[in-house]
Amino acid sequence: MVAVKFAAGIICVSSLSAVAGESLLCSGWRFHRGDVAGAEAAGFDDGAWEEVSVPHDWAIAGPFDASNDIQRVAIKQDGETVETEKIGRTGALPWVGVGWYRRKFTVPANTEHAELEFDGAMSDSRVYVDGVYVGGRPNGYVPFVVDISESVGSVATDSVHVVAVRLDNAPQSSRWYPGAGLIRPVRLTMGRRTGLATWGTFVRTTAITGGEARIAVSDEVRNPTGRLSVRWRVRDANGNALASSVSEVSGTVASGIVRVKSPCLWAPDNPSLYWLESELVDGDGCVVDMRRTRFGIRTVELTKDGFLLNGGRVDFKGVCLHHDLGPIGAAFNPSAFRRQVRILKEMGCNAIRTSHNAPCAEQIAICDEMGMMVMAESFDEWKTPKCRNGYSRFFAKWWKEDLANIVRLFRSSASVVMWSIGNEIWEDDPRDVAVYGRQMIDLCHLLDPTRPVTQGVDRPDEAARTGVLQILDVPGINYRLPKYDVARVASRTGLVLGSETASTVSSRGEYFMPDEERKGFVRNGSQCSSYDLECCPWSNIPDDDWIVQDDNDWTIGEFVWTGFDYLGEPTPYGDSAHWPSRSAYFGIVDLAGIPKDRYWLYRSRWRNDVSTLHILPHWTWPGREGKVTPVYVYTSWPEAELFVNGVSQGRRAKDQSSRLDRYRIRWCNVKYAPGELKVVAYDAQGRIAEERIVKTAGEPRRIDLVPEEQNLHALSAKGDAMPELGYVRVRILDANGVLCPWATNKVSFTVSGAARFKGVCNGDATSLEPFVIPFMCAFHGEMTLVVEVGRSPGTVNINASSACLEPGVVALGVE
Ligand code: GAL
Repeated sequence: MVAVKFAAGIICVSSLSAVAGESLLCSGWRFHRGDVAGAEAAGFDDGAWEEVSVPHDWAIAGPFDASNDIQRVAIKQDGETVETEKIGRTGALPWVGVGWYRRKFTVPANTEHAELEFDGAMSDSRVYVDGVYVGGRPNGYVPFVVDISESVGSVATDSVHVVAVRLDNAPQSSRWYPGAGLIRPVRLTMGRRTGLATWGTFVRTTAITGGEARIAVSDEVRNPTGRLSVRWRVRDANGNALASSVSEVSGTVASGIVRVKSPCLWAPDNPSLYWLESELVDGDGCVVDMRRTRFGIRTVELTKDGFLLNGGRVDFKGVCLHHDLGPIGAAFNPSAFRRQVRILKEMGCNAIRTSHNAPCAEQIAICDEMGMMVMAESFDEWKTPKCRNGYSRFFAKWWKEDLANIVRLFRSSASVVMWSIGNEIWEDDPRDVAVYGRQMIDLCHLLDPTRPVTQGVDRPDEAARTGVLQILDVPGINYRLPKYDVARVASRTGLVLGSETASTVSSRGEYFMPDEERKGFVRNGSQCSSYDLECCPWSNIPDDDWIVQDDNDWTIGEFVWTGFDYLGEPTPYGDSAHWPSRSAYFGIVDLAGIPKDRYWLYRSRWRNDVSTLHILPHWTWPGREGKVTPVYVYTSWPEAELFVNGVSQGRRAKDQSSRLDRYRIRWCNVKYAPGELKVVAYDAQGRIAEERIVKTAGEPRRIDLVPEEQNLHALSAKGDAMPELGYVRVRILDANGVLCPWATNKVSFTVSGAARFKGVCNGDATSLEPFVIPFMCAFHGEMTLVVEVGRSPGTVNINASSACLEPGVVALGVE
C-alpha cells in the first residue's frame, strides 16, 4: 500500500485535468456593479450585493444603449483615414466600469499551499484575500494563478477566508464586445508545500513508429525538498494502465519517456484521449501530490507537403471565433460552447482560431473531446494601440508572462495544433513586429517545441520587407489573396495559411435584389444580403478563397471570419449613422446559433462524407409576382435542375471557368410565382441524386418549438459546476408547417420545472431587445430560446405564446 499525503480537500475532476485538492468556485459569489471603498476587507458587509454564480458577465443583461462606449476612431486596419463616431463597436452593452466580486471559501486545517486560478477575469483584475492584495492581471482573457498560501496556509484548524476581486474595464479598450466580470472559471487548489507545479506537466508525442508512440513527459515541482521522484502512468479512457515510467526530480524538473503500443491517434474525426497520471513521490515512497492530465497521441508537422497531422496532410477548414456566446455573453458555459462546436462540425469545420485572444481551459478541453483543432491566439495588439486604452498599455510589462501562461496551460492539449502570437500587428516602427515576433516565437518554441507559430498578417509586402513572414513557421495571411504569392516566396516551408478569410457579410433571411456583388455596401435598415455576395473593401466572398486554395497546393487551408456572429463590430454599419446595429454580420451562423445560407455553401465544400443540397432564397415574396428573383443552390452535387411550380428553369452544372459558378449553381433570371420551388440534383454520372422543395408560406398560424437536445443533466448536488444549458429553436409556421420567413411575431416564454429561462436571441443585429427578458420578436420567423438547468432532475415545461398564434409547448427531460 502506498501512503498518500494530500492535504484534505475535494478531488474534483475538471474535464481537462484533475488535481488533488482542486475545486471550481462557481456558486456563492456576491457581485456589485461600481466601485466601493474598502470592499476588499475581510469583514466588509456584502449582504446587499447580488448573489451570482461564476462565470458571470455583468453586462449581457443590457440594456443596449447607443451611449455605451462610443468610440471616435479611424480604423487604420480597415483603411479609414478620417475619424468617425462608432456606435455599437463593442456591443452597445454596459461593460465599461468597475465591478466587484466576493466569495468565502474554506481552507482545511494544515493546508500548506493554496492557489487561485483564474481562466480570465475581464479586466485589469486586482485580487485580494482577507483584504490583502495577492495579484491580478490587466489582460481579461489570459489565465493566471495567484499563490495565496501566505494568506491562508498552515493553520491548525479549518479556516474561512474571503476572496475579493476588483475589475475595471476602461472605455475604448476593445474592438468588439469583451464582456465584463469573472467571465471564466475560477479554481481553488490546495495541497502541501511541496507539490506538482500548476501547468508544470507537459506531455507530448515525439514519434509514432512501428505501431508504438513515444511520449515525452515532464513535470515541474514547486518547493522541492529532499529526494523526490515523479511516477507517470498512462491510462486509456477506461482507466486501464498502459505504460509507466519514473524519474528522479532534478532541480525542479523530472522528465521521462513513456511508450504506448498500438496507440489510438487523436484526430478531428477520431478524438481519442488518454490520461497521464503524475505522482510526486518522496524519499519514503509516499505520494505527496498527484495530477491527471488528459492528452491525445498525435503529431503535427509542417513540411513542404503541407500541414501534417499524424503524418498525413490535413487542410484547415477553420473558422475564427470570438469568445462571446451570443445571448449568454462572455460568461463561459461548457454546453454553450459544445453547441458551437457541434454546429461547426456538422458543417465540416475542423479547426477554430481563438481570435484574438487566449481561450479558456474548459473550451480547449471540449475541443480535445469533440475533435476540433485549435489555433490558440494571444494578442490583437502589441506596443502600438489599436484602441485608445487597449492591451498596448500593458504589453511591455506583461507580454512574456501572458504568452508563457497560454503556452504552458495548453501545451499538453491534443486539439491545440498551432500558436498565433498576434493579429494584424501594426507597430509605429514596422521593424518592431519582427523584433518582438522573434522573441515571441522563441518563447513559444522554448516552452513547446512541438507546435508551429504563426501570426495573422494583413500587410504581406511590409511583412516580407521587415522579415516577419520569414520568421514565422507558417505565414498567416488575413484576406489579400493577390498577396499570397508574396507570402509563399518568403515562407520557410513555402506554405501559406489563410489565417483570416472571407469576411463576407450577411443577415439570415435577408435577400436584396438584384443579387449584385458589393464591397462595403450599406443600405437603410442595416442588413446585409444573404446571396452571399457582400463583403468588406479589404475582403472577398468565399468562392475567391477556394479558387486560390484549389489552384495552389501550397495553401494549407483557411480560418473564415467568422464561424458565428458575435457582439460588437457591426461592419459595415459601425458608424453612428447606421444605429441601431450592435453585432457582427460576418458569421456563417447567426448570433442565435441558426445557420445562415453560407453554412450550406461551406458544408457543400467541407463535408465529403454526406451530401448537401440547399436552396435560397425562401419562396414567399408577396408583391414580387413576375419579377426576377434569383435562385441559388449550394450543393455538393455537380449539377442540378430547378423547377418553379413544375416548370423547368434549366439544368445547370458547376462551371470551373466561372468565378461565381464554380462552387454555386445559380439561376439568375427566375421570375417569382408563389407555390413551389424544387431543385433536383444530379450526380457525376448524370443520375438523379437528391431533391429539395421550398414552398410559399401562408399566414403565420402557430409556434413550433424544436429542442436541439432532448436530455439535459442536472447540476450535481455535490461539488460546484457550471450549469448545463438547453437550446430550443422557435419557429413561426403556417397552417401547413411551412416557416413564415417574414414573421416578426412577438413571442413570450414561460419555463417551469427543472430549468429556468436563461435568454432568447433572434439573430437580428439591429435588435435592441434584451436577451434576458422572456419575450422577443421573431426575426425572419425564427429565434432561439435558452434554458438553464438547476440542481433537481425532472421535467422542464416550456410554453411559447403570441397573440393570434397557436402556442408552442415542449417538455425536456433533465436527468
Ligand atoms: C480583420 C480583423 C478582425 C475583424 C475583421 C473584419 O482585419 O483581424 O478582427 O476586424 O477584420 O473583417
